[in-house]
Amino acid sequence: MPGDKSISHRALIFNGLAHGSAKVTGLLDALDVQATMRCMQALGVRVEHGIVHGTGHTLATPRGVLDCGNSGTGLRLLAGLLAGQPVRAVLTGDESLVERPMGRVTEPLRRMGARIDGREQGAKPPLTVHGGNLSGLTWDSPIASAQVKSCLMLANLGASGELRYREPHLSRDHSERMLGAMGLRWVRDDGWLVVDGGQRLDAQDVDVPGDISSAAFFLVAASIVPGSELLLEHVGLNPTRTGVLDALAAMGADITVQAERVVSGEPVGDLLARHAGLSGARIDGGLIPRLIDEIPVLAVAAACAAGETVFADAAELRVKESDRAATTVALLRALGGAAEERPDGLVVEGRPLRGGAVHACGDHRIAMAGCIAGLVARGPVTVYEAQHVATSFPSFTTLLDAARA
Ligand code: S3P
Repeated sequence: MPGDKSISHRALIFNGLAHGSAKVTGLLDALDVQATMRCMQALGVRVEHGIVHGTGHTLATPRGVLDCGNSGTGLRLLAGLLAGQPVRAVLTGDESLVERPMGRVTEPLRRMGARIDGREQGAKPPLTVHGGNLSGLTWDSPIASAQVKSCLMLANLGASGELRYREPHLSRDHSERMLGAMGLRWVRDDGWLVVDGGQRLDAQDVDVPGDISSAAFFLVAASIVPGSELLLEHVGLNPTRTGVLDALAAMGADITVQAERVVSGEPVGDLLARHAGLSGARIDGGLIPRLIDEIPVLAVAAACAAGETVFADAAELRVKESDRAATTVALLRALGGAAEERPDGLVVEGRPLRGGAVHACGDHRIAMAGCIAGLVARGPVTVYEAQHVATSFPSFTTLLDAARA
């Protein structure tokens, strides 16, 4: 599986700011991470032969605009990085990213003292960040978001005072783990993440595990195609990311975890997935942040399951790379499936898929979910705009062909 996207962004951004140099192995080579790499280079970071040379907390003011491409993680984390440093930079992205909500980061960053200008009063990119002179913040986030949390942790590196951050459910904790390994002291106190401002980072080598969000497409493929058996090696199994395993287990999938180990502070293991008869399940609450990116492909599994599957408490789907409540439902319906949107998610009724044409709607995960549906549909499935898989998983079609051989 390709390198974990969340960990890859963080390995570049955190080490790029830190003192010293770090070797990053297994970095995801996909459009989102390439965009973040170019942004860090524009901020004065040198990256050569897999070594990131940190700037020692002295970023350069870039000469051009920082283009984060399709990546919400890139843009939101960089907004926090820049806010904490005495630089000025403009952050923007592609036609999807410039429509995604940024108030969730610009509002707390402004309360820390950052000057941020942007479209719609800073609710949408492009954002201009005039960084420096921040103070601490107590932020009780209404949404569980690792991007918001990581943004504020980065800003706080350049702040005086304490950051206190709380969220309704624990979001992915890659930042806490990696920043902790780089010397950042933080504690969790009664649900609050508490971090002293102005701390120093020392570069730390990172071995990036395979991305469970990419593995999810193959876990579902193996589960729904009769006769399948697939072994996926060296996949990240951070408990804040393994909701897809819990959801598929609840649906009756046959997936076992082997050779569990810890690599660069992250749990890693091999996943053996075999075909199994699936049944519908209810997926909601604290499980949602642990599998939010996997819902399009889980919906394909749900279409192959007996009975109804409900995805609830997942309104965040609507502000991803596409409105994934709408685009996932459209995908299944285009192929003859039965699915309905809900304000906070979707409902899928198991029913054989007949095939048809699917539009990726600019969304890499919709394109890949469409391809997985094509494995079980009675007729052919055509995926338009399939090139979007390169956002997170350029080798997707090659691996899928290899798995089918
Ligand atoms: C990510 C956090 C999640 C996830 C995204 C990657 C990260 O977004 O959906 O694909 O790397 O921090 P939110 O923070 O908006 O929940």
